[in-house]
Amino acid sequence: MNIFEKRHGKKILDPFVGNGTIALFGTLQDFQVYASDNNEQKVMNTRRNLVWLLELLEEEIPSFINERILKIDARKLSDFFEPEFFDGICTEPELAPFFLEKPYYNQVRDLIDGKLEPLYDQFFAEAYKILKPKCRISFIAPVINTIDGNDVQVNIEKLASKNHFKLIPLLNTSRIVRKSNNKLQFRRQSLKTIMDVKKSQIVKRKIYILEKN
Ligand SMILES: C[S@@+](CC[C@H](N)C(=O)[O-])C[C@H]1O[C@@H](n2cnc3c(N)ncnc32)[C@H](O)[C@@H]1O
Repeated sequence: MNIFEKRHGKKILDPFVGNGTIALFGTLQDFQVYASDNNEQKVMNTRRNLVWLLELLEEEIPSFINERILKIDARKLSDFFEPEFFDGICTEPELAPFFLEKPYYNQVRDLIDGKLEPLYDQFFAEAYKILKPKCRISFIAPVINTIDGNDVQVNIEKLASKNHFKLIPLLNTSRIVRKSNNKLQFRRQSLKTIMDVKKSQIVKRKIYILEKN
């Protein structure tokens, strides 16, 4: 949500809303929040959580709440929303099942090739239709650590460019200076992704900002 300088009245969508964390934060920050999920239970959870938040803030519950939190498959967004309707999309999509142990490389390859890549690809194609020109998607993708110690991930840059989005640098590394050891400076000038990692996490999260060409 920090990709917006002005928030008030901007229409944003979380099309994989789950229990509504992003929708709740968006509401707190004065966005016009729309949200969807293909799981009916998640839609109900988000509606309930949003009502809880508004009650806590002693704000009126708007009558349109149910019309803005909907059961929609993210691969069919343009059936529900007009072209160029949104100012932005902010989302954490389906990442991976909860692995109790590190998976085999082939398991992860099957998950990525058979499920995640087609889902993200179709979602980006739909996002292109419903976003205004030059508007952005903040997107999280998984980096999965396998039993042989390697990290396997979806090639988001390739999918983005196929669907007419470009990656926006997230961090200018010249702002981070390591005074103790000059050799440990970043080699690149800017980073296109940021990783959210906890120690020994099997599924890590990588954050991307994509801009519609
Ligand atoms: C990682 S969760 C999102 C969690 C969310 N950030 C939260 O605060 O709870 C991903 C969500 O994507 C939904 N999902 C999976 N495939 C989908 C699809 N094709 N269309 C829409 N939603 C989908 C799942 O039902 C799940 O709620």
